[in-house]
Amino acid sequence: MFAPVYFDHNATTPLDPRVLDAMLPYLSGQFGNASSRHEYGRAARAALDEARQQVAAAVGAHPTEVVFTSGGTEANNLFVKGAAACLPASLLAISAVEHPCVLKPAQQLAQQGWQLKVLPVDAEARVDPNALPVDAALRLVSVMLANNETGTLEPVGEIAAQARQRGFWCHTDAVQALGKVAVDFRTLGVHAMTISAHKIGGPKGAGALILDKRVELMPLLAGGGHERGLRSGTENVAAIVGFGRACELLNERLARARELANLRGQLESQLSAMGAVIFAAGAERVANTSYFAFAGIDGETLVGKLDRAGYAVASGAACSSANPEPSHVLAAMGVEPGLARGAVRVSLGPQSSQTDVLGLVAALKTTLQGLRRLASLAA
Ligand SMILES: Cc1ncc(COP(=O)(O)O)c(C=O)c1O
Repeated sequence: MFAPVYFDHNATTPLDPRVLDAMLPYLSGQFGNASSRHEYGRAARAALDEARQQVAAAVGAHPTEVVFTSGGTEANNLFVKGAAACLPASLLAISAVEHPCVLKPAQQLAQQGWQLKVLPVDAEARVDPNALPVDAALRLVSVMLANNETGTLEPVGEIAAQARQRGFWCHTDAVQALGKVAVDFRTLGVHAMTISAHKIGGPKGAGALILDKRVELMPLLAGGGHERGLRSGTENVAAIVGFGRACELLNERLARARELANLRGQLESQLSAMGAVIFAAGAERVANTSYFAFAGIDGETLVGKLDRAGYAVASGAACSSANPEPSHVLAAMGVEPGLARGAVRVSLGPQSSQTDVLGLVAALKTTLQGLRRLASLAA
């Protein structure tokens, strides 16, 4: 297969071979159901227990606070819908730049009697913690830790401090922060936090809601009462084992992530020299993400041409690429729709090298020249 250089690590990451090794036994000989009482079941249960400890240790939580889910989407839905179902309909606040798997459940609640406050962001996609409504009806807040499009880090610790003072539940979607910055459940002080395995070298289909036990949640799935009754369904043992192993390797990933700042700096200085507008360039960001546009150049077209030139990058948010609307994140930042349609995201990973980045820059130069020549002929 033609294998373009992969620059889309915010969409998903390649499975670390060490993670695959840890998973393989649970896809063959050790196939037991963790609820079974016999040896096969006990082996699966022991593997889940170990993974729970590895995940908890990676994020500074207690193993009993880890609720395994099928991924970030489910964990976000579990918190937003599950916490709301245990409260009288009142006021819920989320930021304008949340992933659709927080945005849409919140919009559903707004149709069921909840009042929804969407917190605005500044031109760098940053939420102002002082914009939280002072209304005593505020019961739930969800603000992401790092934005998937721009990489902007949000002031979640400050929001969590207000939550503890004022008595509302505070959740953060840390899917894009894990493995890129240190993420510690206790230090952040939130009541709930979402993480996902496939963004950190783990498999797709495993994630977790880290949950303070004081928060009452109505499960999304009723059944056999797995995961302390919060998530019924036979556990995906191999994927959860892989998630645990990926968490065990997290420090390595984190050390490399810090070095990526230098590589991104080189990329962005070249992009600026080519006339790109770099979004959220002034914000504190995760080090792997660069989000930019060239005026008059369509992002989808650029992504297609770069793919054929051997570079896999994203236009807008990968999770909503089927949606032709310009990014809601850029709209919230006040970016004009014409420029937003040009948005391209490069997200580096542990294996990204300077050679790869220089290759991408060269491919971009050639592609831009071609597209600009076409545009001037058409004008
Ligand atoms: C910020 C954020 N939250 C949640 C998700 C969804 O996670 P999952 O793919 O595990 O469902 C994503 C996926 O891109 C994401 O970027």
